[in-house]
Amino acid sequence: MFFALKRLVHRTLMTVLRLLAKVLSIPRPILFTTAGSSQRLCAAIAQMGARHVLVVTDRGLIGLGMHEPIVAEFARLGVDTTVFDGVEPDPSYTQVEDGLALLKKNACDAVLALGGGSPIDAAKVISVLATNKTTVRKMIGFLKVRKPGLPFYAIPTTAGTGSEVTVAAVVSDPETHLKTPVIDPKLVPQMAALDPALMVGMPPSVTADTGLDALTHGVEAYLSRNATVETDRFALAAIQLVFDHLPEAYAEGNNLAAREAMAMASFYAGLAFTKTSVGYIHAIAHSFGAHYQVPHGRANAIAMPYVLEFSQPKAASRMATIARTLGLGEGTDSELATQLVEAIRRLLVDLDIPSHLEPLRRDDLPTIAGEALKEAHYNYPVPRYMNRQQCEGMLAAMLA
Ligand SMILES: [Fe+2]
Repeated sequence: MFFALKRLVHRTLMTVLRLLAKVLSIPRPILFTTAGSSQRLCAAIAQMGARHVLVVTDRGLIGLGMHEPIVAEFARLGVDTTVFDGVEPDPSYTQVEDGLALLKKNACDAVLALGGGSPIDAAKVISVLATNKTTVRKMIGFLKVRKPGLPFYAIPTTAGTGSEVTVAAVVSDPETHLKTPVIDPKLVPQMAALDPALMVGMPPSVTADTGLDALTHGVEAYLSRNATVETDRFALAAIQLVFDHLPEAYAEGNNLAAREAMAMASFYAGLAFTKTSVGYIHAIAHSFGAHYQVPHGRANAIAMPYVLEFSQPKAASRMATIARTLGLGEGTDSELATQLVEAIRRLLVDLDIPSHLEPLRRDDLPTIAGEALKEAHYNYPVPRYMNRQQCEGMLAAMLA
């Protein structure tokens, strides 16, 4: 009875979310693609009238000199730049405030993110803080941003987070260390460049982890109860691109075509999940990340087959459609759903992703299940509702 009541509350909340997603207009960035597109984006930013751009990135990318062609191109175009490299993984409110202080000190009039999900998320929040008299803490949650931010642009250097197209930025509270989201359509960049030439140096393990994050976004968006005809198209395209090109990008890092395909997969998956939200895979992965510092995409990848097997009784028909799109053969919905899980398992083996989570401890299962379900049941329109016991049982299967 209690379980049924909880499920009803969840369903009601998700219906509200679905209606909200329908009425909320989400902008899309103008997209520049192919090798060299980051340079063309700089020219477009200059044409939009920017005089002084804050480039938000991290020290790792500075060490690799990734910012140099961007800064040089802006200089050639007569645009000043200030580089803020103080973003770390899971950027804190303090790091965002440091970036804002640098922006104000140099009177920057535009913000360009260069990097993976963390620099893009930090830059999103910096751009809106610059025009709103408020604090990061007061912006946490849904639709708390009043005025549009400074013109904001993004150049992702990994292919997976989709942050270059989504309405969310995750920043961490320096006091509680909890990851907290700012969610608002005003966070979407005006323009973005998917430049595969910037992705060729990505190490294989990062290529696999981030690419599997994109796959998870696609799969969870397609199985979401809030999916629409439009999000289905983007989700299926993303899933297909990952299956077709991630092994190639993993094995041959300098394959520009594979890198470009993965950048598009990340972008399409982002377009899908920014409307549909994600599901239990992400909820569990977030808890794995917080407890064991497992990279986000890797945590998703490990949890994915288990969550899909759990979801299958309610999601077989949608899973079968994914399997048919991937050309996994013929059969009933249930058979094809099983084929899909097997195909994902084979992909994970090819990408050297373990099938179990090494650091996971049996004693931690109740805490992880509690955190994951709390996150999912207030946010995610999952196809099959999971109770505490089912979650703990599933997590136990992931023990090494
Ligand atoms: Fe993700």
